[in-house]
Amino acid sequence: MKNKSLFTLAIVIAIMAGMVACKSSKKQEMVTSEAFGTFNGKEVFLYTLTNKKGDVIKLTNYGASIAEVSVPDRNGVRGNVTFGYDNLAGYKSGDLYFGKIVGRFANRIAKGKFTLDGIEYTLSLNNGANSLHGGNTGWHSRVWDAQILTKTDYPAIKFKYFSPDMEEGYPGNVTAEVVYTWTDDDEIIMDYKVTTDKNTVLNITNHAYFNLHGAGTGDILDHEVVIKASAFTPVDSTLIPTGEIRPVEGTPFDFRSPHKIGERINNPDIQLVLGKGYDHNFVLDNAEEVDASVYDPLTGRQLEVLTDQPGIQLYTGNFLDGTQKGRGGKIYVYRSGFCLETQHYPDSPNQATFPSTVLTPDEPFISSTTYRFSVKK
Ligand code: BGC
Repeated sequence: MKNKSLFTLAIVIAIMAGMVACKSSKKQEMVTSEAFGTFNGKEVFLYTLTNKKGDVIKLTNYGASIAEVSVPDRNGVRGNVTFGYDNLAGYKSGDLYFGKIVGRFANRIAKGKFTLDGIEYTLSLNNGANSLHGGNTGWHSRVWDAQILTKTDYPAIKFKYFSPDMEEGYPGNVTAEVVYTWTDDDEIIMDYKVTTDKNTVLNITNHAYFNLHGAGTGDILDHEVVIKASAFTPVDSTLIPTGEIRPVEGTPFDFRSPHKIGERINNPDIQLVLGKGYDHNFVLDNAEEVDASVYDPLTGRQLEVLTDQPGIQLYTGNFLDGTQKGRGGKIYVYRSGFCLETQHYPDSPNQATFPSTVLTPDEPFISSTTYRFSVKK
């Protein structure tokens, strides 16, 4: 009798062990990796994450980037809707931040200077008189450590980067982590955690460009945008915020109800002239689950953006000029992609009235942004 129950127990344990093994090997199949070259002696990989629907995203640890998002249109036909390059050479030479994680400070810092705790810090100037997106060799151009996560419900990868004290002029030894999760509802969830050993400033985002017709298939002027923002931050001629928080009411920046990108983009509004189109930070109301959405009437594809960040930059690819050759030899022409970069407001370290971007050793920066893809019939 005793032997029989021991035997039964052994069988139950064996079945459970088998189930665990099966589950984890299935997980492994949802994330595959291939060599993508080396940079500064570090190996770069291209990862493919497939969810239960069979929809796919590709990520690379070069710049912790989103390289491809392959999702269906209303007829079920999959297409890649984000900008990327075929190879590492493209990523290294491309300077437009396709799909990359941008840090330490996304967007602009006026004249590349800020003062923190009475000390003035000087950054490299890589955008006229200003510093843009963390400087010349910001986090977008670093090889991040990668770990495929196996104890998750969906395919997921953690990218980690250690940024030493005074890298690109910023104080503090900083460790940044971004976990990308690709859910069965076609959501890319980006969970950020950043710590420092000294007071510093931080503004981190993902700089993916999207074209819901399919990347490299013409402009995005017919895409319909909603941004749940009652105000935006007007800029000067170098795209540095003036400090004003201006209501969107009665301006071409009012996207609280849907408007096509092209509807008002060429209005003689001075802000649109300065931005060469939309290249502005919106002050999010943060009142609803979805903070922004873009719908493409042609394909039925929709992108929704959910974030806990106070701002979002709508950039309509005004500096794209067709010189970038992307995945599959696609050419990205003027205004053929839009970005919705979740963020703190630009130049916050120099703007006392904006929400603080100071990161201190006693409190990590924890934040989450989701890009959710779906179709409207
Ligand atoms: C900025 C643009 C800039 C672009 C570079 C955007 O975040 O707002 O001004 O040209 O990044 O790709």
